[in-house]
Amino acid sequence: MEYMPKDKTAVPPPTEYLPQHIGIIMDGNGRWAKARGLAREYGHRRGSEVFMDIARYCKKIGIRYLTVYAFSTENWRRPPEEVSGIMDLFREYLREAEEREQENAQKGLRIRYIGEREGLADDILELVDELERGSADKVRTTVNIAINYGGRNEILSACKRLAEQCARGERTPESLTEQDISDNLYTAGQPDPDLIIRPSGEFRLSNFLIWQAAYSEFIYSDILWPDYTEQDFDAALEEYAHRSRRFGGV
Ligand code: FPP
Repeated sequence: MEYMPKDKTAVPPPTEYLPQHIGIIMDGNGRWAKARGLAREYGHRRGSEVFMDIARYCKKIGIRYLTVYAFSTENWRRPPEEVSGIMDLFREYLREAEEREQENAQKGLRIRYIGEREGLADDILELVDELERGSADKVRTTVNIAINYGGRNEILSACKRLAEQCARGERTPESLTEQDISDNLYTAGQPDPDLIIRPSGEFRLSNFLIWQAAYSEFIYSDILWPDYTEQDFDAALEEYAHRSRRFGGV
């Protein structure tokens, strides 16, 4: 049934019209900082606070999966102090998440890392592993944090794994299906994103969830990520609720 509009104030649409999985490309931190005469790192810090607010909000309103793009495999090309600033924010977040593991588990929040392990510092990998070991009994919201992530590389790794299975004679190339690729991505077992949000006026996917986003709805906006609010998020949910998804049908 079609979702009937209401005014544009900030209230999320009813649960049945909410996306199950939302991806967010957290963009515009650098410009936000520059506009204030601050170093880019301040933009990332504010951006990570906004991420935490939106993640909490997703749990509150019952979004089942949230995937945020925090650092791509290409982002290593940025100045070393900016890279280490982002890694420190990730570290801080993981430490805090680890301290709150019990509480998060009780509240049904699960945090997952998605990305290439190679290249990440050992202490970050340890924190990621500790977090992966903990599990909520009844997961309400899973937050995937994409760090050192690249969609093409993710697909390539899946293909290599399947090719190895074929080489060992466990599979035949003819038997391989799209589902086999999905099952070998970091997001295995999770629904594909229904909605991808990219703020800050950019109109690119930038190698984010490129396999999984085949049928995702896209919502772009001019707001820089550090300025993004629950109201902006609600407006995106509202717009999503009005779109009709046909998955190639009529
Ligand atoms: C893109 O904006 C943003 C990033 C490359 C980093 C995003 C990282 C965070 C929000 C913090 C990560 C921490 C946690 C806890 C997940 P940009 O720098 O490209 O902005 P610009 O386009 O304005 O230059």
